[in-house]
Amino acid sequence: MTADLEHDVILPPDPESLTQSLRGMGYTVETAIADIIDNSISAGARSIRVIMNRETEQSGASILIKDDGVGMSESCLITAMKLGSISPLKKRRENDLGRFGLGLKSASFSQCRNLTVVSKKDQQTSSFSWDLDEIVRTGEWKLQKSREIPPCAQIEGEHGTVVLWRKIDRIPFMSKDAQDYDWSSLRKKVCMSLGLIFHRFIADGLEIYFGDDKIKPIDPFFSQDPGKPCDFPRVFWPESGSTVKAWLQCYVVPMTSAMSQDEDGCLQGFYVYRGKRLLQAGGWLGLKDLRVEEQYRLARICLDFENDGDEEWQVDIKKSRARPPAEMRQWLRKYALQARTLSDQTINRQNAKEGRRKRISKLWRKSRGSAPLLDYTSPVMEALFSRLESGGLDAQVMRGFLEILAVSHPSWKGCQILSGEDFRKAIAAIYETMSREYGGERAGEILRDTDPFCNWPGVLGEICGGSYEQS
Ligand SMILES: Nc1ncnc2c1ncn2[C@@H]1O[C@H](COP(=O)(O)OP(=O)(O)OP(=O)(O)O)[C@@H](O)[C@H]1O
Ligand SMILES: [Mg+2]
Repeated sequence: MTADLEHDVILPPDPESLTQSLRGMGYTVETAIADIIDNSISAGARSIRVIMNRETEQSGASILIKDDGVGMSESCLITAMKLGSISPLKKRRENDLGRFGLGLKSASFSQCRNLTVVSKKDQQTSSFSWDLDEIVRTGEWKLQKSREIPPCAQIEGEHGTVVLWRKIDRIPFMSKDAQDYDWSSLRKKVCMSLGLIFHRFIADGLEIYFGDDKIKPIDPFFSQDPGKPCDFPRVFWPESGSTVKAWLQCYVVPMTSAMSQDEDGCLQGFYVYRGKRLLQAGGWLGLKDLRVEEQYRLARICLDFENDGDEEWQVDIKKSRARPPAEMRQWLRKYALQARTLSDQTINRQNAKEGRRKRISKLWRKSRGSAPLLDYTSPVMEALFSRLESGGLDAQVMRGFLEILAVSHPSWKGCQILSGEDFRKAIAAIYETMSREYGGERAGEILRDTDPFCNWPGVLGEICGGSYEQS
């Protein structure tokens, strides 16, 4: 069907539909605040403060993000408030975290219906607001010049910017009816996310406060952990002539740290950075046959690219996802497999050690509230007693065994009673006696798995033979 019209039509978007669609881009509170902080960092801020005010009987919920960046003149602020203020195709400064000319508005509208920006530059303070209810009511894109600036949004320093969200309708945990528990877990989540997303900036001196608390950087590779990650060399793409650039470094993080921070096991995989800003935390980028699995939970890969590669990396507006260019996928997979293999090996080795430790039996049993008791069910005890009953246990073995029992008593703090040689002889005699009961190989195994003998792998190796991997 063709239309009857003979002329072109200017068709501006419907304000209500467009703003409503913009709200549904899938930001979370954390990603939305991070998008605002991106702007502050691009504006050279050294100190940024996030203040979240929960709804009370007297006032609605609000969020403020204040920075001490260069600020904006009135005309710059008006441009900044426009949807699509700069073309995504425009070349950006290397340290500019923006791309689409949209984040300030899209991130704000995802959480609230009223966005006010106050900015100060060259002694001049300007302030404008978008109010979605007004846009819907009038059907016009009418940017409101603020008659007065709310006290909380005043800028004390010489320059800076405040982004204020009011009429918050997308964060239920900020309502006055929310449970205290939900409200505090929301705050914790925001702090954790910001600490992770901006950890490189914070480590380089940027201060981000949540209320009065300074946010600590969260380094997903645990570089400063006493258990230090195992790291591979940093490698560079392209290996030969490609326009796309990337840097990659694999880590296998220490087991204890990884377990405490990665409770759901899904933080394994790639950590994709655009400049110093973390875009994506974990996951295997949809690379062929690579899925999140328990045994790869220690594998983490740091992947860096610069903002001149935004198009090839298909960075999304929320700055929470990037897709590696097709030509790079094989290369990424090769390193992912290396890190995964090492994670698997590390976990297996640790599990083997723990399994061995679990099998260790003891000569003494500790029972709560009473003195330790001898465990007559221990295989060593059973063997010795069976010899004793059949009259085949000589005094030397008995003496040696009693000495070993004494030193293995849980509250024993003294020094060893037997000399080195006598001690060796005592173990040899015990081994000899047990071999008659169980055979040499099994006797050696039992001693290796019994405390305190398991603590003397060298002596056991000499006496019983066989290899013993030190735990
Ligand atoms: N805190 C701020 N300080 C100074 N200028 C700012 C600040 N916030 C925003 N601006 C200006 O407003 C412009 C628009 O910001 P907006 O976040 O909408 O888009 P962007 O940062 O350019 O790109 P993106 O959509 O990728 O975030 C920025 O390019 C910047 O010039
Ligand atoms: Mg931005």
